[in-house]
Amino acid sequence: MPKPIRKAILPVAGLGTRFLPATKAVPKEMLPVVDRPVVQHVVDEALAAGIEHIVFVTGRNKAVIEDHFDRQFELERTLQERGKQKLLEELGDDTPKPGTTSFTRQQLPLGLGHAVWCARDIIADEPFALLLPDMLHFDNGSQGCLSSMVEAYEETGGNVVSVYEVPDDQTNQYGIVGVEDRPGKARPITQMVEKPARGTAPSNLAISGRYILQPSIFDLLEKQDPGAGGEIQLTDAMLRLNERERFFAVTFEGSVYDCGSKIGFLMANVAYALSRPDIEPEFRTELRKLFSLGAVEAD
Ligand code: G1P
Repeated sequence: MPKPIRKAILPVAGLGTRFLPATKAVPKEMLPVVDRPVVQHVVDEALAAGIEHIVFVTGRNKAVIEDHFDRQFELERTLQERGKQKLLEELGDDTPKPGTTSFTRQQLPLGLGHAVWCARDIIADEPFALLLPDMLHFDNGSQGCLSSMVEAYEETGGNVVSVYEVPDDQTNQYGIVGVEDRPGKARPITQMVEKPARGTAPSNLAISGRYILQPSIFDLLEKQDPGAGGEIQLTDAMLRLNERERFFAVTFEGSVYDCGSKIGFLMANVAYALSRPDIEPEFRTELRKLFSLGAVEAD
């Protein structure tokens, strides 16, 4: 049995320029998908997979994320006084227990590889999960992406990366992997390239932003030269680690919403709202009205 995955890194230092002006004062990770911030959906996924400690790699103007995962004494007292017991309990359930979160700063925007490296002391010598909060993995209440990766990892050990199929004209936006052509949930990875130039991708399998990595990645990240976009790329360090350690790709069966893009964010809101029994009936009726009024062109 490989070493258990107890800790997860969530890099939340990105500027969110694609969502300006909404993200001028509010971190992009705090934008709501229905009534939960994007980052909370990702924390939910991590906790459901058995993660015990979350390391947030933050940056300037991100302090509100730390506040969000703390208790709010005044709010709790007011809810108590107003008899809003259910809401109070839900807030309590969403708040991590004391000592189960850490926050460290990336200081400079040098790339994802650098952000992960900034968490090295807190992770120490353990395998860990990495979840990119922009990417929401929606499987309508099924197992959850990280849980299914942990399940695969318990059999394979090594390093595990979640992938999903993207169209040919989008492969240049992601890390792309090539895999051994064989059946099974976890397929050995043979190639990895970050944002390949058009027409050069080894496959259509994009890294979806969920990883299980061995701590040996940190030494490689420390010496990693900048790659695509002039940034220190995690994928480049993984490629080097793959020379001596095994990497497996697990295909995510649900829908991946890239909440760093406007369309992905809007679609996540629609999908999550339609999966909520308390919202779905009315929301569906309103959507129908919108389409039938011609305010939105339906196919
Ligand atoms: C990062 C990774 C990339 C991955 C993507 C998923 O890229 O470097 O391999 O496919 O996340 O969102 P970024 O979106 O930070 O450019």
